[in-house]
Amino acid sequence: MLIKSANQHLWARIRAGFNQYKPILYPYILLMVRELERLSDDAQNTRNTVVHRRQLIESILSVFEHTIDEQTAAFRVNKLLGHHRIDKALTQRACLIAEQITPHIPPTSRVLSFGCGDGQVDWNIQNQVASIQLYDVADYRQPHVTLPFTTERKRLGNDFDVATLIAVWHHCIDYQDEISWITKRVDQLVVIESVLDDIMPWEVQAAIDWLYNRGMHAGANIPVPGHFHTVQEWEAILAKHGFAVGSQEDYGIDIPLVPEHHVLMVFNKQ
Ligand SMILES: C[S@@+](CC[C@H](N)C(=O)[O-])C[C@H]1O[C@@H](n2cnc3c(N)ncnc32)[C@H](O)[C@@H]1O
Repeated sequence: MLIKSANQHLWARIRAGFNQYKPILYPYILLMVRELERLSDDAQNTRNTVVHRRQLIESILSVFEHTIDEQTAAFRVNKLLGHHRIDKALTQRACLIAEQITPHIPPTSRVLSFGCGDGQVDWNIQNQVASIQLYDVADYRQPHVTLPFTTERKRLGNDFDVATLIAVWHHCIDYQDEISWITKRVDQLVVIESVLDDIMPWEVQAAIDWLYNRGMHAGANIPVPGHFHTVQEWEAILAKHGFAVGSQEDYGIDIPLVPEHHVLMVFNKQ
């Protein structure tokens, strides 16, 4: 219920400013759609690319304009984008992220993947670490991901050295509580966040994030409260819990499937 109302709230906020932000959003949706086309085996799509693309983007924008109920909108967009194309794209994204985070995790670490999502990133890094436990409030793991998993935070215990949080904090309805909890249990946090910057307005970032998390994972019940912050704001929040940034990598808009500004931040306990 909490998730449903948070998502409806975000949806209403995106829709309220939609006319103003629609022209800025268009090229970002184009990037997402082109990435799905690139991975498509569907000859029809590649033959009629320009016409098909334009119609598809117009249809997606029309869902934003005309669908009041957030959940209905998520399923409509999901149908427009096409399941088989999405799965392939998600697998590629997970491979890239695994490459990005592995050098930052000591191989002897007992890892907690906080907000593991479909678990594909964890599946890819499992042999590079001592152990890995998956945790998420939503369960939409890929069937081949057979790593230990729970949806109950209280079952997790304290036996972890490192937590990975890949695009998670801006999804937590009470992120202050989650940060307070995790910083008491590990010495290192390997974080990738979709950060706010001076280029992309909040409404556009929220719409892209919604398209990826709700449009591409419509049945997954992922919370999208839109708690985006700048890098400096995340650093200040973590400093209050005794953590400082050890290393940082600015990837920019590195994943066309979810064209947000991604930054890796490794936080160490001081
Ligand atoms: C963008 S997805 C990222 C999933 C995965 N880390 C990845 O990169 O593939 C964000 C995830 O955070 C999870 N999440 C949101 N709030 C959470 C919370 N309070 N505790 C744990 N997970 C949460 C969502 O359910 C979702 O699976």
